[in-house]
Amino acid sequence: MTDRIPQTTQTHLSAECGPGTDPTETDSNTPMTTSWITRTETAADLAQIREVNLAAFPTSHEADLVEALRADQEAWIPGLSWVTEAPDGSIAGFALLTRCHVNDSPALALGPCAVRPEHQRRGAGSAAIHAALDAARQQGENIVLVLGHADYYPRFGFTPASGHSIRPPFDVEDKYMMALVFDPARSVPSGTIRYPAAFGV
Ligand SMILES: CC(C)(COP(=O)(O)OP(=O)(O)OC[C@H]1O[C@@H](n2cnc3c(N)ncnc32)[C@H](O)[C@@H]1OP(=O)(O)O)[C@@H](O)C(=O)NCCC(=O)NCCS
Repeated sequence: MTDRIPQTTQTHLSAECGPGTDPTETDSNTPMTTSWITRTETAADLAQIREVNLAAFPTSHEADLVEALRADQEAWIPGLSWVTEAPDGSIAGFALLTRCHVNDSPALALGPCAVRPEHQRRGAGSAAIHAALDAARQQGENIVLVLGHADYYPRFGFTPASGHSIRPPFDVEDKYMMALVFDPARSVPSGTIRYPAAFGV
């Protein structure tokens, strides 16, 4: 289930605000500014999205997870699967939001997020994640949960989910389970996260 007409945004990330500031990470051919186009996935992207996940992760687990989520009509939300296009039109990055719950209240789960190794640390991941989060906010969603790198996701506004009395259904160090609330003035659920079955937790 994919969008026929993708939403598109364009993000210009300068070296100062992201990757490329470390001279060991760049070479003389690396442009100082990368122009990423982000858009929602289309049916034509599915094979490349799988390839991006296969390239970014050590096993096929995440690539398979994306496909299982896409097949789950309760989990999949049109317009919340975003890709980052490289300048040559190929897909460099990917970010996915799917429906989960906190107790019985609807929330979103962020992930997998993946960038082809050759494009990593140049803003492709951030561009896809920002675009997905913006789309979710525009759709009226108010809370996103992520299990992931504790020094990556806070840049998007994520804080430990425990601060909202939200806990995962498995044991994990507190800092890795994070939540982002768009509008704290709205009611924020607390309780245990219920993931779509595809996550297997
Ligand atoms: C994590 C990932 C999606 C980030 O996308 P990206 O395009 O490489 O990252 P961006 O260019 O948007 O952001 C760069 C920042 O991410 C940080 N970063 C990248 N990978 C990271 C990791 N594994 N852990 C912590 N930080 C990481 C960089 O240190 C850099 O930080 P800085 O801006 O302070 O220098 C991408 O690196 C990736 O696919 N990694 C392998 C798969 C993975 O771990 N996915 C996430 C699962 S939670």
